Amino acid sequence: MRNAPIGVMDSGIGGLTVVKEIWRQLPRESIVFYGDSQRCPYGDRTPDEIRLLSFQILDFLVAQGVKMLVIACNTATAIILDEARRRYDVPVLGVIAPGARAAIAATNNQKIGIIGTQATINSKSYSKTLRQTHHGMKIVSQACPKFVDLVERGVLDEVKALPIVSDSLEAFRGTDIDTMILGCTHYPLLAPLISKVLGPDVRLISSAEETARDISHWLTEEHLNRLELDDPRHVFYTSGDVKRFAQMGETWLQQPIQAKYHDVWENESEMQILGDRS
Ligand code: DGL
Repeated sequence: MRNAPIGVMDSGIGGLTVVKEIWRQLPRESIVFYGDSQRCPYGDRTPDEIRLLSFQILDFLVAQGVKMLVIACNTATAIILDEARRRYDVPVLGVIAPGARAAIAATNNQKIGIIGTQATINSKSYSKTLRQTHHGMKIVSQACPKFVDLVERGVLDEVKALPIVSDSLEAFRGTDIDTMILGCTHYPLLAPLISKVLGPDVRLISSAEETARDISHWLTEEHLNRLELDDPRHVFYTSGDVKRFAQMGETWLQQPIQAKYHDVWENESEMQILGDRS
């Protein structure tokens, strides 16, 4: 089991921000990643839909023999983390508690902004986690439903993306937050633009670094660190366009990657649950 890969899932390429950090902090570990780009975004789906889609992917990863599951998607973490922990025998880690922890460590004035998908913001998972630690925290949150689409399409340049980023962050103008949680794993790819709008005094927090620290901690605690000395093997599955996924993945990870197409639908009746939206 120790030499088995870590399974990482996201609704699309956003989870690669977590993979990059796992590679940096845990370079000997092998990874099986699944990015559900075909059915992305999850963020404007109902909790039932998010649950159905996420469990299909996690079941697939477990069937690959992974030793741990990382839900590198805030939206899925918000909806299914507790249930996933009951469902599987392997440890399951999410990205919300690590992100909240990093924000608490970073803020000086206890005023924190949160941006995420509509489903993540509706779940109030971040505010609940932050307030569990610090009751008097001032929190301003805002869903940014246009960001995931920009990232999935690779539209990250100032000319096209900056006006959209700027409009979406309107709610934060005039607030004196000193820390902003990027509560969606896609958003770190827009970090330069988000920072440009919010200014240099607002610190941006991505869950990736702290999540990789959590993974490292768990692997040690559970005696699950990989022992083999040969190079780790990584496999990237996508339900979307393989070429596009590989191109964007290689740009972000700055390494060639082996990407494969895989569809997790098991039967027609499951598919009908999502109707036209799938
Ligand atoms: N990357 C995901 C997250 O962290 C979800 C994006 C989406 O599919 O809406 O929330």
